[in-house]
Amino acid sequence: MSAIDAGQRRCRECRELLLIATTAAREAAALIRERAPAVGSIEWRKKGPADFVSDVDTAAEHAIRAVLDREIPGATVLGEEMSPNASVDAGVAFVVDPLDGTTNFLHGYPAYAVSIAALADGQLAAGVIVNVPTGDVYAATAGGGATRNGEPLSVSAIDEPALALIGTGFPFKDLHQLDRYQQQFAAITRRTAGLRRAGSAALDLADVAGGRFDAFWELRLAPWDYAAGALLVREAGGVVTDLSGADLPFTPSSVVAGNPAMHAWLLRALNEP
Ligand code: IPD
Ligand code: CA
Ligand code: CA
Repeated sequence: MSAIDAGQRRCRECRELLLIATTAAREAAALIRERAPAVGSIEWRKKGPADFVSDVDTAAEHAIRAVLDREIPGATVLGEEMSPNASVDAGVAFVVDPLDGTTNFLHGYPAYAVSIAALADGQLAAGVIVNVPTGDVYAATAGGGATRNGEPLSVSAIDEPALALIGTGFPFKDLHQLDRYQQQFAAITRRTAGLRRAGSAALDLADVAGGRFDAFWELRLAPWDYAAGALLVREAGGVVTDLSGADLPFTPSSVVAGNPAMHAWLLRALNEP
């Protein structure tokens, strides 16, 4: 088989995986949306400091798994609530955040999403993020570009830090990182047009892919927070690495994303002593 044939076959597989992931994400988003008006009666518990899970998170993950199991029996699922330690190195695997922005959801703050990435033999093949309150669907396939509601997405062209809007996430679960983060926060605030923290890393990365944010960083995210968003950013022409500039590992990691110029600048600025 020629390299082109192999590429086309892989691309077809990516599109099939995207279709399955999108069906699953839309079902979960519908379920979450249905529960949103009665958010006060939803049961939730603490998983760790400032880390909550509700019966909506678990119901959404169940709904996603039902679709994935039906469509690809035996596929691995690395899911935040049910199988957070699954290995995604071989075969077809899905990386699932059934509800990214749980704290926002529980408070009726409208920034939360469903995020699903599909991997083939450890490589990102497809990713979908559904913004639950707005219904926007962000999608990407490896080599096939990124879209919002079917329209092509592209990262911003801003390359001057003083004009740049930067997304971020606070290290509220890793308080030992707070001092380091505060230094970074001060350095980046002084040199850019502004910082935003909305509380859903998946949507932050979708906003980098769509050019609303020129760059983004967070000191620690789980693979389900960033997998789909990382593919979106890359397919929209951006760059995503960890804080050392290395590729993301599908284990907990720092994440730095942006258009090529702002990613390079932010990486340097965050690592300045
Ligand atoms: C959280 C959100 C938040 C980020 C946290 C994540 P969750 O995900 O993405 O923006 O700052 O690190 O854990 O817990 O709501 O799925
Ligand atoms: Ca999350
Ligand atoms: Ca979650």
